Amino acid sequence: MMNPSDALDELVLAAKNSFAGAATPADLENAKAIFLGKSGRVTDLMKGLASLSVEEKKSRGAAVNLTKQAIEAALNERRQALATAELQAQLKAESLDVSLPGRQSSAGGLHPVSLTLERIEAIFGSMGFDVAQGPEIETDWFNFTALNTPEDHPARSMHDTFYVEGGTEAAPNLLRTHTSPMQIRYAVQHVKKHRALIDAGGLMPEIRVIAPGRTYRVDSDATHSPMFHQCEGLWIGENVSFKDLKVVFTDFCRTFFESNDLVLRFRPSFFPFTEPSAEIDIQFQAGPLAGRWLEVAGSGQVHPNVVRNMGLNPEKYIGFAFGMGPDRLTMLRYGVNDLRLFFDGDIRFLSQFQ
Ligand code: PHE
Repeated sequence: MMNPSDALDELVLAAKNSFAGAATPADLENAKAIFLGKSGRVTDLMKGLASLSVEEKKSRGAAVNLTKQAIEAALNERRQALATAELQAQLKAESLDVSLPGRQSSAGGLHPVSLTLERIEAIFGSMGFDVAQGPEIETDWFNFTALNTPEDHPARSMHDTFYVEGGTEAAPNLLRTHTSPMQIRYAVQHVKKHRALIDAGGLMPEIRVIAPGRTYRVDSDATHSPMFHQCEGLWIGENVSFKDLKVVFTDFCRTFFESNDLVLRFRPSFFPFTEPSAEIDIQFQAGPLAGRWLEVAGSGQVHPNVVRNMGLNPEKYIGFAFGMGPDRLTMLRYGVNDLRLFFDGDIRFLSQFQ
């Protein structure tokens, strides 16, 4: 028969082997149950002590206790080892390579049309023009009627104008088809501010304003978008003439395109709110577009009926207005041939303007 203390050593050894064979914490808990569990082998040994004499109990009890402690120590050691291994595996799996290059944060920039609008505002600002903003949902009055546009004018037709809810049949709401309603809105405010002076026959400070913004028409192809931009210009005073329009607009175009030999042509045209009216064409003398006439704006002397709707006496106040297309100016400046590129939001296109 085996020496009892050898049997205890064997048990410790068996426990150590069993723990060492446990590959996971769960396996280890199962192995633990075999030795230290309620009906485990160490527990059985403890129970066995009950039948021994007091003398035997002492020495055998001490030996069994040592065995139990040795097995518990082995268990804790293995627990530690498994926990460390688990942590190591996790660290390895989630490892960070701090030597990798960081993620680039790319700086945003202004849209090419916004760059053009800023440029327009800066140039006209330097010529003493105020900058005004107005609503994109307009009333029939400001968009058409106040601008001397008769009821049966084709621009009012459903084919050109987006009508929106909220108005009445007699006074419908619409998306402004041009920035010209800002002529009336701005002038009315200006006149209101100087009413007393005007009534007393004094000299009203001149109206000099540009109004850039979004405009809408039912139209869509490579050179027309249902949403597009316009910039209105208005200059009203007691002695403002077509000659001033020519000087101001020529100056503007040459500064905008940074080209002193740029040539302008004022081609007779028609707008209900100006008389006489002219389409403004420009011609580059150099570069890929050299020699071609390119239309950039509509313009004219403000019609007496419009001056009246501003609250001014057309016998006394006179001036000019123009409306240009910042989208088109942007296309010409950067050599873009499809207007839709501006509104597609394609980063490959837009990033070229940063
Ligand atoms: N509003 C006109 C258009 O959209 C342009 C224009 C503005 C013409 C001011 C004359 C004076 O075509």
